[in-house]
Amino acid sequence: MNQVQSVRGTASLQFEPALVRVEGVTLQYKTPDHLVTATYRVSLDIFKTDRLVLLGPSGCGKSTLLKAIAGFLKPVEGSITLKGKPIDAPGPDRMMVFQEFDQLLPWKTVRANVAFPMSVNGVAHDEVRARANEAIAKVNLTKFADAYPHMLSGGMKQRVAIARAMAMRPDVLLMDEPYAALDALTRRKMQDELLQLWQDVRFTLVFVTHSIEEAVVIGSRIVVLSPHPGQVRAELNSGFAQSDRDAPRFQQLTTRISHMLFDAEAVSPEKGPKP
Ligand SMILES: Nc1ncnc2c1ncn2[C@@H]1O[C@H](COP(=O)(O)OP(=O)(O)O)[C@@H](O)[C@H]1O
Ligand SMILES: [Mg+2]
Repeated sequence: MNQVQSVRGTASLQFEPALVRVEGVTLQYKTPDHLVTATYRVSLDIFKTDRLVLLGPSGCGKSTLLKAIAGFLKPVEGSITLKGKPIDAPGPDRMMVFQEFDQLLPWKTVRANVAFPMSVNGVAHDEVRARANEAIAKVNLTKFADAYPHMLSGGMKQRVAIARAMAMRPDVLLMDEPYAALDALTRRKMQDELLQLWQDVRFTLVFVTHSIEEAVVIGSRIVVLSPHPGQVRAELNSGFAQSDRDAPRFQQLTTRISHMLFDAEAVSPEKGPKP
């Protein structure tokens, strides 16, 4: 079977309705002297069982699209729905993990950082503590539950951010290049840990990266976006249950995506507006 399928084509293989539907979404920024089109008529479905990766070069609108799913930005055209309802504001059902190591509250311990969103969202006190401890254990940081962020490495801070998001039990976990600032070895370890966590807990993941290899490791589905303004160029099913970097298919998929991104002749994206 051809691995490249249309977004709706793959959707039709699923048995349940999409959890998140992005339909014809154009996102723009207004600056004092011009309008920046970040994404142009992007459509994709996100299913409950997905580890969906948004892959594309810097500036193609990946973060912008993720922010729109999170509810921080509204489309100028098209719609985004979660369980059939329009997304019009941020909510605890969509938790975000960012690239930056400074996303934790520096004056709070690891446990207090993980507890914080639950406390402000009205989770009962006892449950907050139990869920915080459980989430911290899931990311292997129990020994550091009482440590402060400045005592942690970059990778550990990202694990805390993941625990904090997961403890909220969101419908969707949104991750924006969470490992981009880590060294290669730590990055690889973090990718494997995330997949292990996904095997244990089974959550819906939307993961943004500009790394082809990372996309193939993490994604069960990969949506390839064209350069600025971002449009859906292709969607691929990775089909890897676990990251198997040594499998020949892994290399084949990586090479194939490289061609898509770098070989302009290989694709004919829909014509969008001038950025
Ligand atoms: N706050 C902003 N104001 C104006 N333009 C922005 C803003 N944020 C991003 N952009 C522009 O929108 C486009 C997409 O940006 P972004 O979503 O950050 O891309 P990516 O995450 O794929 O690198 C880029 O051209 C970027 O310069
Ligand atoms: Mg970005």
